[in-house]
Amino acid sequence: MSLRSVRTRFTLWYTAVLSITLLFFSTGTYILVRASFLNHMDWELRHQTASLTRVLDHNPLKIMKIMEHEEGIFRVLDGENPFAATSSWSAAGLDKFSADGKFLSPRSWTAPNGRTYRLQSTITSSAGHGYRIAVAIDEQPTQQLLHLLAFIMLLSIPAAVVLAVAGGYLLAGRVLAPVSIMTAKAREITAERLSGRLPVEDTNDEFGQLATVFNQTFARLEDSFERMRRFTADASHELRTPLTAIRSVGEVGLQRNNDADVCRETIASMLEEADRLTKLVDALLTLSKADSNTIPLNRQPTDLNALVAEVIDCLQVLAEEKEQTLIQDDTEPVFAKVDYAILRQAVINLVDNAIKYTQPRGGIRVVVRPKAARDAVIEIIDNGPGIPQEHQARIFDRFYRIDRGRSRDMGGAGLGLAITRWAVETNGGQIEVESTEGGGSIFRIVLPAWIPPRWTVSRPTNRQASLR
Ligand SMILES: Nc1ncnc2c1ncn2[C@@H]1O[C@H](COP(=O)(O)OP(=O)(O)O)[C@@H](O)[C@H]1O
Ligand SMILES: [Mg+2]
Repeated sequence: MSLRSVRTRFTLWYTAVLSITLLFFSTGTYILVRASFLNHMDWELRHQTASLTRVLDHNPLKIMKIMEHEEGIFRVLDGENPFAATSSWSAAGLDKFSADGKFLSPRSWTAPNGRTYRLQSTITSSAGHGYRIAVAIDEQPTQQLLHLLAFIMLLSIPAAVVLAVAGGYLLAGRVLAPVSIMTAKAREITAERLSGRLPVEDTNDEFGQLATVFNQTFARLEDSFERMRRFTADASHELRTPLTAIRSVGEVGLQRNNDADVCRETIASMLEEADRLTKLVDALLTLSKADSNTIPLNRQPTDLNALVAEVIDCLQVLAEEKEQTLIQDDTEPVFAKVDYAILRQAVINLVDNAIKYTQPRGGIRVVVRPKAARDAVIEIIDNGPGIPQEHQARIFDRFYRIDRGRSRDMGGAGLGLAITRWAVETNGGQIEVESTEGGGSIFRIVLPAWIPPRWTVSRPTNRQASLR
């Protein structure tokens, strides 16, 4: 039992609060009961004193009868002389008590025999006599009752506390049992074994909700670990291909007894592979920075037509090599607040893909247009082979290529669209693809449009108008 465990702390707190409550409650009860007993005795004393006073007023001799019947404990002095006293008065040793006016209100007084009495005295005068009346009630029965009460409390409070502690400890144990189970299960879940999940008994209680949230986190972790693993494996594989190529081209080159032309060819071939390697490493770096959100964004109002025109200018040579037509459909000026360099990269990737995957003498069109006044759209439309439906959802995944062999021949590692999607989304936009097999493809970038602020002409107010 660790002192720092929730179970122990809960039990200790619970015990402390319960003990303090019980202590206050019992002390209060004791004080109240005692006060009530004393009140009752005092009322009795006043009642008896009043009766005796009445008797002395009307018929002093009648007091002897009362004395004989031992109704109460009292003594009456006529001036300093004894007038009447019950035998129990003397028996209790109350003779020593002097009714000198000190006990006009009820007080407790311990007699020489050790018993405590509640006493009250009063002075009354009747028919020329000055009587002093003293009345007493034995406190012993009341004291016994109070002692019994205190005894019961002293016995029952610790018993109640012990019971409550045991009960609380057991209860806390039962309540916290799911936590122990979850802890044990969570310990089994490691980076290597992320497939484990915490048990969820009841999704509606707090522990169930906690376990559910943890399970969702584990699922996300498992997913991202899996993606990371796949990414690393794919990246290593892709890096190895050009390296192997450089190596084998170099080895073949070394073995042969080459003239300068063949050497140049070998070196050119190696440089081409090195170039591919550089592009791949660049793409990997971009994605890694994108993942860690370390690429600074500089979003400025941008003329999308101008951006597309620049990209087309840049890639026109590639299209010409394949005798394709690459044209831009200019509609009206469309602006969006984007990071120019990042969005340009996205458009380059899409136009580059369109050129790469469309057959020679094919056609590629880039359209910039507004959409529903709120959005700006850039569409890259080609009449190439199209993308089969089943691949459309996955072409934006890293290293995903429909035809691995063909794509690599064209220099692609399958990272282009992944980077494109990040580039569009980081600019607040969305990318979608529309394609049918054999019917060409449309890649569509939708961005929130930026509306240039118009000149606002301030009109004269009524007041200004009337001043004229
Ligand atoms: N315009 C297009 N027409 C047909 N297929 C395309 C087009 N653009 C992309 N693809 C397919 O999507 C895959 C992923 O594209 P991308 O991520 O740019 O990788 P890659 O490096 O292969 O170009 C490509 O391998 C290709 O099969
Ligand atoms: Mg590509």
